[in-house]
Amino acid sequence: MKKRKFGSFHWKVSEIGLGTWAMGGGWGKQSEQESISTVLKAVELGIDFIDTAQIYGDGTSEKLIGKSLKLLGNPSSIKIASKIPPLQGYWPPHSYENCADRYPEKYLRESVEKSLSHLRIDCLDLMQLHTWTRAWNKNPEALEVLHALKKEGKIKAVGISTPEQDQNACNDLIKEGRIDSLQVIYNIFDQEASAEIFDLAMQHEVAIIVRCALDEGSLTGKFSKKTQFEKGDWRKNFFKGDRLKEVVKRVEKIKKELETINPKSSENLANTALKFVLREKAVSTVITGARNSSQIESNASSSEGKVLTDLEFERLLKHAWRRYFW
Ligand SMILES: NC(=O)c1ccc[n+]([C@@H]2O[C@H](COP(=O)([O-])OP(=O)(O)OC[C@H]3O[C@@H](n4cnc5c(N)ncnc54)[C@H](OP(=O)(O)O)[C@@H]3O)[C@@H](O)[C@H]2O)c1
Repeated sequence: MKKRKFGSFHWKVSEIGLGTWAMGGGWGKQSEQESISTVLKAVELGIDFIDTAQIYGDGTSEKLIGKSLKLLGNPSSIKIASKIPPLQGYWPPHSYENCADRYPEKYLRESVEKSLSHLRIDCLDLMQLHTWTRAWNKNPEALEVLHALKKEGKIKAVGISTPEQDQNACNDLIKEGRIDSLQVIYNIFDQEASAEIFDLAMQHEVAIIVRCALDEGSLTGKFSKKTQFEKGDWRKNFFKGDRLKEVVKRVEKIKKELETINPKSSENLANTALKFVLREKAVSTVITGARNSSQIESNASSSEGKVLTDLEFERLLKHAWRRYFW
């Protein structure tokens, strides 16, 4: 497993990380045992960056990471990132709301304590605000609270996860040195982050964490027009109506294109999709969401072997597709 620098920190983290949203629930059936085995497998494979959030199953994901780390003897080499959601209200937040109303200081402090307790640790490597609006960039009080918690030794780094519909919402915060990391959506379809964010992040030494690199599973190539998502799987909505048909059509086009250049890269589309993201130097880690050992094993293997050729990369760039349904 190759490692990459994490922004301005001395940390080196595995370029493939583990995302644990599905382990918290909301993706159909997922057993605790399977989730714990996945975390243990990830660590065995050299993965040392795990992303979670308080709202993944109301603490379920954080707790099972805490359990898994305990089984491993709480190794300090594993970096854990969690997220605090804004207090109840619009998601993403509306531009006329105040930052301090959705992320008040008392709430932020209590939330950090809650995550520490779920994870069974004294200090969290990275705490991220789960969403944001660019309207708060002029007065980002919540970030000041998190930086104070950093000084107090409760967390080591401060980050934000971009709002889905506005990947560039935090660019000014990068320029002003207000965040240590930014979590963005970046994949073969959604390439918005490569327009400005990656260069800015490199320039200001802000770590980039990539989420949704597999487009919630579509870029593994395993879906068909007939795929039925289980009851309780949020993707029933994400791929509703004609969205599944459209995404499958576009994935087929990608596969056909790859077949003409290199049949191997079309055979394991999930790996190719991850290698596409790994081409970006600004990326510190790609937190691939995995629900079982074989998925994380396959995802981890994209750190090995050949990188994408310039030709493959250039062809994939042409498959950019922004969906405006957020
Ligand atoms: N707003 C935010 O901050 C935010 C939002 C989204 C995600 N995240 C974070 O980013 C992480 C990654 O995003 P994501 O989980 O939404 O999406 P993703 O990584 O694009 O897709 C993950 C899903 O794809 C399937 N999959 C993964 N590896 C596979 C493989 N090798 N072969 C076949 N199927 C595979 C699994 O679901 P199935 O097997 O059920 O198909 C898995 O749950 C999350 O876990 C979470 O930590 C943060």
